[in-house]
Amino acid sequence: MKRFENKVVIVTGAGSGLGRSSAIRLAQEGAKLSLVDLNESGLQETVAEIKKAAPQAETLTITANVANEKEVKNYVDQTVQTFGTIDGFFNNAGIEGKQNLTEDFGIDEFQKVISINLNGVFYGMKYVLAVMKGKGKGAIVNTASVGGIRGVGNQSGYAASKHGVVGLTRNSAIEYGQFGISIKAIAPGAIMTPMVEGSLKQIDPENWEEVGKAFVEPNPMKRFGKPEEVAALVAFLLAEESGFINGVVIPIDGGQSYKY
Ligand SMILES: NC(=O)c1ccc[n+]([C@@H]2O[C@H](COP(=O)([O-])OP(=O)(O)OC[C@H]3O[C@@H](n4cnc5c(N)ncnc54)[C@H](O)[C@@H]3O)[C@@H](O)[C@H]2O)c1
Repeated sequence: MKRFENKVVIVTGAGSGLGRSSAIRLAQEGAKLSLVDLNESGLQETVAEIKKAAPQAETLTITANVANEKEVKNYVDQTVQTFGTIDGFFNNAGIEGKQNLTEDFGIDEFQKVISINLNGVFYGMKYVLAVMKGKGKGAIVNTASVGGIRGVGNQSGYAASKHGVVGLTRNSAIEYGQFGISIKAIAPGAIMTPMVEGSLKQIDPENWEEVGKAFVEPNPMKRFGKPEEVAALVAFLLAEESGFINGVVIPIDGGQSYKY
């Protein structure tokens, strides 16, 4: 029996990177998927990859901005209308924002990053939890970051938003454990996705691959993480077998955040 047979999972940020790889993994394990992203063409590419990897998988695609509360309510409602329920939620969409010193970070940039990375995660939990509470079970994985448990530098908006995601996770986990719902966060280090490529290009557009090599040098494993490695963790955390893991933030970073 596949772990996600007859299970319905929403994935936000499903049009790229960690969302896409997790969607593929969940589809291979039998999930019915509601795939949410701002980027319509990214969603279509994800569906095409799912068709190759798991031809039987049922998918619904919803183009939505997670920073807009009405659009979040709508993706949750559409999922329930289409599939009847929600068993798992990978609350993952996010952006890095422009890198800058705090004094130069910019108020608009700060608000933009917070509205997507933090408000978006809160709205998602608000509407999904109402559905899960009604059925008395479910699992939520929020995407935080190593930047949500450590200082990184030049990332005021990102760090504030991801520390906020950790706070939301811990708070809601305490509230909803009694309703059979587990809520956890992942804290990825540098995983090679379009977001990280963009980040390296901010540092040096011409020589970003060299910058990448230097970037992973301090990592105990001396490499970037792979999206598939994150997908495997997400699938475990959304599966029933990990239901007693609640309120935790799990780094997936090659050990870098524990290094002195
Ligand atoms: N890749 C890493 O190294 C890394 C490390 C730590 C945390 N993260 C987090 O993982 C998550 C996924 O990142 P990724 O590396 O896959 O990046 P990515 O850029 O490859 O994918 C992010 C996806 O989110 C979507 N998105 C952005 N803003 C949105 C919005 N307002 N509404 C709906 N969708 C939106 C994008 O269109 C994109 O498809 C993010 O929350 C990111 O902060 C990534």
